[in-house]
Amino acid sequence: TRSWRVDLKSLIRTIPDFPKPGIQFRDITTLLIDGRGFAAAVDALVEMARPHGADLIAGIEARGFIFSAPVARALGAGLLPVRKPGKLPGPRIGVDYALEYGTDRLEIHEGACLPGHRVLLVDDLIATGGTALATVSLLRQAGAEVPAALFVIDLPELGGAALLKQAGVEAASLMSFE
Ligand code: PRP
Ligand code: HPA
Repeated sequence: TRSWRVDLKSLIRTIPDFPKPGIQFRDITTLLIDGRGFAAAVDALVEMARPHGADLIAGIEARGFIFSAPVARALGAGLLPVRKPGKLPGPRIGVDYALEYGTDRLEIHEGACLPGHRVLLVDDLIATGGTALATVSLLRQAGAEVPAALFVIDLPELGGAALLKQAGVEAASLMSFE
């Protein structure tokens, strides 16, 4: 909790037609380069995460790492990087998931999270929820409990947060764009 007040939403830049025509891309880099804004966003995520008493914070490559690492550090929790294929050196488990076009895969190291671990998901943004739901299923496959997922930005029209709630994961965000 810091003394200044920051309008976080005003620090997100919207870029039309990126990466494809019709997409209004919500750009977090304008928040990141604002020191007070970045600190305020991390502090807010930390206070949302704290009541869950997490053992681990799972961060999704790549933009998810930016927020998950400082949240884990502030809570004294471990950081579990959830990675794209071909990055992890040890024995690993993974999940394939559908994208708008084609499929992708996310992986964690075998034994990185264990039955009974409480793991919170932290990412920069939830849109369709495909990435977050795939991560939840991977963590559950490893035996972890995933009580909540926290985001800087929610795009509620795309339905991801509602899908997470249906899957039994509390979803919360710092702001939303209709
Ligand atoms: C973005 C974002 C989320 C995901 C949200 O990551 O950081 O992880 O998409 O979309 P969804 O809810 O529809 O799954 P992206 O795959 O663009 O990768 P990056 O973090 O490496 O930029
Ligand atoms: N902005 C940023 N990242 C995203 C978006 C968006 O609108 N949709 C999916 N990932």
